[in-house]
Amino acid sequence: MKPVVVYYSRQGHNKALAMSLVEEFLGRRIDVPMIPIDERKPTGMIAGLVRAIVGRPVRLAENPDVTDYDPILICSPIWAGHLTPAFLGFVKSLSGVEGKSFYNLHCCFGDTAGALGRASELLQQKGGHVLGTAYITTSDLLEREKLPVFVRGVVDTCVDRVD
Ligand SMILES: Cc1cc2nc3c(=O)[nH]c(=O)nc-3n(C[C@H](O)[C@H](O)[C@H](O)COP(=O)(O)O)c2cc1C
Repeated sequence: MKPVVVYYSRQGHNKALAMSLVEEFLGRRIDVPMIPIDERKPTGMIAGLVRAIVGRPVRLAENPDVTDYDPILICSPIWAGHLTPAFLGFVKSLSGVEGKSFYNLHCCFGDTAGALGRASELLQQKGGHVLGTAYITTSDLLEREKLPVFVRGVVDTCVDRVD
């Protein structure tokens, strides 16, 4: 099966990370779709932050269909040391993903608290296999040399899974 990159991004950093992953796959002749996670109703920053802290997912405009893909790479921010409501909404929307591989990625400031472990836990509860979980800081994302190295490492791990 082929990989897919799913992303949630308010300010564009995680979208940029998602695009870099797609480009890296493309450089290896693997055409990978990029699917945005969109909230059904836009949440304000404060309300979103509160939801993140209490771990309450938002409803999505459309549940990304990942049936035909494996591995599934997810890019999303960290807010106040927590996973975003959109990430939680995406995980909640997943069904029939038992045995699929996930790579959980965040572009954030680098203060992830327990969020990475929590993301793995939630994906495992859905029956997924977590290939990896990692973050890149927003400043490293903007530095020319760091992003390609980060992205290559992630894609190296994923290509072993691609038929
Ligand atoms: C309200 C708010 C809270 C944040 N809290 C954290 C945090 O606890 N840890 C962290 O590493 N980054 C934190 N960040 C930084 C974001 O994760 C980072 O800016 C991210 O790249 C934004 O993603 P986006 O541009 O794709 O929306 C926070 C950002 C905002 C706006």
